[in-house]
Amino acid sequence: MTSSKESLSKSDSRPVIAISGKGGTGKTVISTIIIKHLKKKDVKILAIDADPATSLPPALGVNIRKTIGDVREKLVLGPGRTPAPDLPVDLMLEYQIRDILAEIPKISILAIGRPEGPGCYCLVNDILRHSIEKFSSLYDVTIIDCEAGLEHLSRRTTRSVNTMIIVTDATQRGINTARLIKELAESLEINFDRICVILNRATQEQAKTFFESASKYGIDLAGIVPEDENITEYDLNGKPLIDLPDDSPAVIAVGEILGKLEILV
Ligand SMILES: Nc1ncnc2c1ncn2[C@@H]1O[C@H](COP(=O)(O)OP(=O)(O)OP(=O)(O)O)[C@@H](O)[C@H]1O
Ligand SMILES: [Mg+2]
Repeated sequence: MTSSKESLSKSDSRPVIAISGKGGTGKTVISTIIIKHLKKKDVKILAIDADPATSLPPALGVNIRKTIGDVREKLVLGPGRTPAPDLPVDLMLEYQIRDILAEIPKISILAIGRPEGPGCYCLVNDILRHSIEKFSSLYDVTIIDCEAGLEHLSRRTTRSVNTMIIVTDATQRGINTARLIKELAESLEINFDRICVILNRATQEQAKTFFESASKYGIDLAGIVPEDENITEYDLNGKPLIDLPDDSPAVIAVGEILGKLEILV
């Protein structure tokens, strides 16, 4: 496993890749296709759904029984109600996170979910941040499908990420979101090794115009993913996107991007 692990990244640290961007741009689609490619390698993958809407597990063809939202409920009930009341809190948390991981071959899936009732999200986000930091070192590669927007930065849930991929459409609002993510990360001193954009559902012509604008803000374009009819058909019929054909245009495009980023060599 070591050799394939080394080929995943030039960095010494294990790849922790977050996929962010504005709402509905294709973060979950791109996260799933990245995982589909990584699954072909001899690596252990941690897939984290950091969006309370919990869209990544069905895209991976997985049913999630429990989420970090459920772990929070147990914690707020107090130590007397937890399964191992004598354990220190970080060990108890680790135990409970392991308990909610959904497992399929090569992939462990962790979903943030949402707290039941009117609970605050702070504790859920603290547990998520702790889980990313603790568990990513146990896997060869971690993929995080972020909630839309910028809050994962201000909550610092993505502070241990080394590659930030921003998915955008070819609109000025998409460029603005990418610019804001980059600037906010800098102002919060979150130092990603790499931050880049995937332009989704775009043509080469649109990419040219987009790139002229984006380069003004120092945003790197990792690549373009075209409109893919198979994605439309799979989503329409509720089929897991991880089962998309290998020769589907979006799958090929994401494979090329991973090669360019040297995430899959
Ligand atoms: N390359 C593509 N070709 C065709 N359809 C696509 C493509 N990318 C995304 N879609 C469609 O766009 C919609 C949004 O995609 P997705 O759910 O991945 O976005 P998201 O950024 O994760 O959204 P959210 O912000 O709600 O989490 C889905 O219906 C998906 O089928
Ligand atoms: Mg999503």
